Amino acid sequence: MSTYTEDNRKVTTRRLIEMKQRGEKISMLTAYDYSMASLIDEAGMDVILVGDSASNVMAGNVTTLPMTLDQMIYHGKSVVRAVKRALVVVDMPFGTYQGNSKEALASAIRVMKETHADCIKLEGGAEVQESIERILCAGIPIMGHLGLTPQSINKFGTYAVRAKEEAEAEKLVEDAHLLERLGCFSIVLEKIPAALATRVAQELTIPIIGIGAGGGVDGQVLVMHDMLGINQNFSPRFLRRYADLHSIITSAVQNYIRDVKSCDFPNEKEQY
Ligand code: KIV
Repeated sequence: MSTYTEDNRKVTTRRLIEMKQRGEKISMLTAYDYSMASLIDEAGMDVILVGDSASNVMAGNVTTLPMTLDQMIYHGKSVVRAVKRALVVVDMPFGTYQGNSKEALASAIRVMKETHADCIKLEGGAEVQESIERILCAGIPIMGHLGLTPQSINKFGTYAVRAKEEAEAEKLVEDAHLLERLGCFSIVLEKIPAALATRVAQELTIPIIGIGAGGGVDGQVLVMHDMLGINQNFSPRFLRRYADLHSIITSAVQNYIRDVKSCDFPNEKEQY
């Protein structure tokens, strides 16, 4: 199996910070199951995110909100079993960290104990400060997530670009500084103006990973189903499709149906 990198050492939170310091961009992609995580890890991905986007692409929900802690733990365990090199981040699902910080810690501990992932990701800034502090006190590394935070979609009412107005942009910058001060090791910035994301990446020492946040940040993340072209109904401007698996899989499945119907499959060599 060819790997993009020859550096086979396990990726750690510390190594991501070193990558930012030497200007090496960080690659990050979602995965939710053993087989795909194994392929993505062997290809040389730096970070694998077990995203709560599983709610959309695995379970067919419209938003990420229905995802439960048990479901995230199931996906997390499947991915961790496959991964040798990449840093594995598991998303904290909606409702498991926004209220009571003791519950937030209990949820994060379950994720770490049961999945054996390297760290967690959660959405928000000052609103979730207490939860972040308590989780970090337990020695669990946190990746933050600001900008278009999908768990707040009902508050936003739209998936449009966030922080275009000055007040929201300033709040985002303040939140990013707060997350760094609290001790988060990295932040995802989703769907915000490129100039704003670049400013945050320049002002902070921790790595900033963008999705729809331009090229001035320290790394990029995409949802695997989107970049592989499995999901054809989602075409935001920031998405680059690296394959058309929708066509490839549809055609393979149709060929199989044709061969079964025509009695071409199985042939004599394909039986005992
Ligand atoms: O859940 C997810 O896939 C994410 C990415 C969009 C960053 O949070």
